[in-house]
Amino acid sequence: MKTLLAGKKILFGISGSIAAYKAAEWVRELAKAEAEVTVVMTDAATRFVSGLTFASLSGRRVYTGMFEKDAGEDMTHISLAKESDLVVIAPATAQTLAKLAHGFADDLLSTLVLASNCKVLLFPAMNSNMYCHVATQANIAKLLEYGYEVIEPGQGKLACGDEGIGRLIDWQIAREKILSILAVQDLEGQTIVISAGPTWESFDPARLLSNRSSGKMGYALARVARRRGARVILVSGPSAIEPPPEVEVINVMSGEEMHKGMMAQYKSADIVVMAAAVSDYRPGKTMKQKVKKSNKSIEFELVPNPDILKKLGDKKKKANRPLLVGFAAESTEHIAEGRRKLKEKNLDLIVINDIIGKNTGFGTDTNQVSLIDRDYQLDKLPLLSKEECAEMIWDKVVKLLQ
Ligand code: C5P
Repeated sequence: MKTLLAGKKILFGISGSIAAYKAAEWVRELAKAEAEVTVVMTDAATRFVSGLTFASLSGRRVYTGMFEKDAGEDMTHISLAKESDLVVIAPATAQTLAKLAHGFADDLLSTLVLASNCKVLLFPAMNSNMYCHVATQANIAKLLEYGYEVIEPGQGKLACGDEGIGRLIDWQIAREKILSILAVQDLEGQTIVISAGPTWESFDPARLLSNRSSGKMGYALARVARRRGARVILVSGPSAIEPPPEVEVINVMSGEEMHKGMMAQYKSADIVVMAAAVSDYRPGKTMKQKVKKSNKSIEFELVPNPDILKKLGDKKKKANRPLLVGFAAESTEHIAEGRRKLKEKNLDLIVINDIIGKNTGFGTDTNQVSLIDRDYQLDKLPLLSKEECAEMIWDKVVKLLQ
């Protein structure tokens, strides 16, 4: 599957901050995702990192000056700006922000930004006093007014030794920003509630009943839906994964807590996706104290957890909303089981997951799923990354919304 970045022409500006070395990783990641990255460095940036680094990582010529020896006479530079799908400047220094806010064109980078007619994404990085200075803030306000996207830097220890705002943000957050600008906003206006991860059913203060779900698939769905313009609420069981940016997260522990969380959230939802692996059973009684070890076997009762999706499906019979997507984690009879659950739970779409195949199911970064929609149309998808899988699921949901 072609990723969103494949073949996209990105003009990548680097200005003179120590954070320029971090841009090397960004350029590498973009090139790896098959974007066509052309790097333009300010003179100050070349004092921090050599142009050769970026030429090697992007596999393309790096532009550093307006009047370079071999720049040619055909205004190639300007055509570079005009052909770009996106301009990214990282790090964007106080000086670069000031230049752009005032429309200066006294070096190659500022000239190209003025000549471009695509979205410009600025990632400031500088000392916190410089960032907080009224002059810089006034420049940022001006840039926002002009339609530039300015991403607030991160907090923490800065290269100059100070502590505060001004760090170049992490690549993962930047990646989301870049992808959301390139993505079709076909989920804009939709409120989507997604459940993810396993549930923990406490037996005593030390022990619990759970399953192998990591939350990767649900989190990927949340990330991609946000990227495509939706408001996303993620109701998550215990998971070690970093929540996607700009997604509202409600953390729950047990199946009963997830039930409560979903019932509170579904009312505002246009779409609900139950990607969580809710424990079907929980201990009938949770011991207050840790059960002491002995040589005797013990018995304890397991009682069923509420089937959240079934309850939502029953509610949908009356209200005819929200659009409901369920998952079926199966090890045998995948399609027949999927079809049965689709009908039984009154779903619009079911995603059938093979949990014993190679590189698919719980904990893996890839997944092989089949989709069955409310008209019983079956789509068998190939082995994909969970993010690509999420893209295909949302493509199907968008069709079902029409
Ligand atoms: O019936 P089964 O548990 O296999 O169905 C799986 C689907 O039902 C998943 O979408 C899962 O999130 C949901 N589910 C639920 N409540 C439960 C168990 C599963 O909503 N107690």
